[in-house]
Amino acid sequence: MTALQHIREKLGAQYSDQTWEGLAPYIEAINRLKRKKNAVVLAHNYMTPDIFHGVADIVGDSLKLAQEAAKCDAAVIVQAGVYFMAETSKILCPEKTVLMPDMEAGCSLSESITGADVRLLKEKFPDVPVVTYVNTSAEVKAESDVCCTSGNATKIIKALAREGHKQVLMIPDEYLAMNTQREVPEVKILTWKGKCEVHERFTADDVRDIKSRYGDSIYVIAHPECHPDVIAASDYSGSTAQLQNVIETKQPARVLLITECSMGDNLQAANPKVEFVRSCFMCPHMKRITLPKILKSLETMTTEVHVPADVIARAQKSVNRMLELSR
Ligand code: 13P
Ligand code: SF4
Repeated sequence: MTALQHIREKLGAQYSDQTWEGLAPYIEAINRLKRKKNAVVLAHNYMTPDIFHGVADIVGDSLKLAQEAAKCDAAVIVQAGVYFMAETSKILCPEKTVLMPDMEAGCSLSESITGADVRLLKEKFPDVPVVTYVNTSAEVKAESDVCCTSGNATKIIKALAREGHKQVLMIPDEYLAMNTQREVPEVKILTWKGKCEVHERFTADDVRDIKSRYGDSIYVIAHPECHPDVIAASDYSGSTAQLQNVIETKQPARVLLITECSMGDNLQAANPKVEFVRSCFMCPHMKRITLPKILKSLETMTTEVHVPADVIARAQKSVNRMLELSR
């Protein structure tokens, strides 16, 4: 079986034959150009299946993408995700060329706070460590003491508690901070007003509705960028990588996945025996990334992501501190 046939098989029922005929030439051209240019495509779990299963070399949550990129020996990274992820790749791999297929692919969380906002917070709370979610700009990371992800936030805050901190600033995601506060009551978590425009749309009533329809036969798992009431009504919460892991290991018969839509599509393709009940929202920023844009990015080597060297050096410290504390 050729590589292309293998991809077609994996995408199975996701695309009609007619749609596949339109996608296949892009998949073939991108995979050929990657080899020629020593490039890799890093695809976040929210990429559509044609990207995720068709052209990605590394897939995962925001942090795994950057960590794996740092380990690989490719010269060029094409970021199939949003802009803050491309900046994180540049922070961890400053010697590599990082390309963004669409510079408009932003994030409501990342845009909710600036470096100047963090400097003001530090003036107001001089002895309080600043823990910053990876969904932020390089400039914000550079102003912070330590980064965190949705997968290791609890671990990081617990480590700071063990160091004797009674208060921490956890920015910019208010809901992630509230969800973490439940897990670490020994520390007071001060937060910011940032929200993910996708996850804030889910409500606890949505969860209760579906649970009352399906009873015990449905396993509800949610991303911690959702409101705490949604998390309380769910059976499990975790980063996109943790959600994927629980499905792969538990193989529940029926799942409600409370996160971005493409994640369910990708998991459905990889876990055909699991029934995914559909109730999701699309991230308009993630959906800006398409196969034609990835191809153009590789052909023209645009748009290259640049982060000033001093910002990289300071942001690296907060990312590395996270890696140390979450070990
Ligand atoms: P993770 O993949 O790190 O869980 O993040 C989810 C997200 O919203 C990324 O934009
Ligand atoms: Fe940002 Fe939410 Fe979109 Fe992720 S899903 S990129 S957090 S807006």
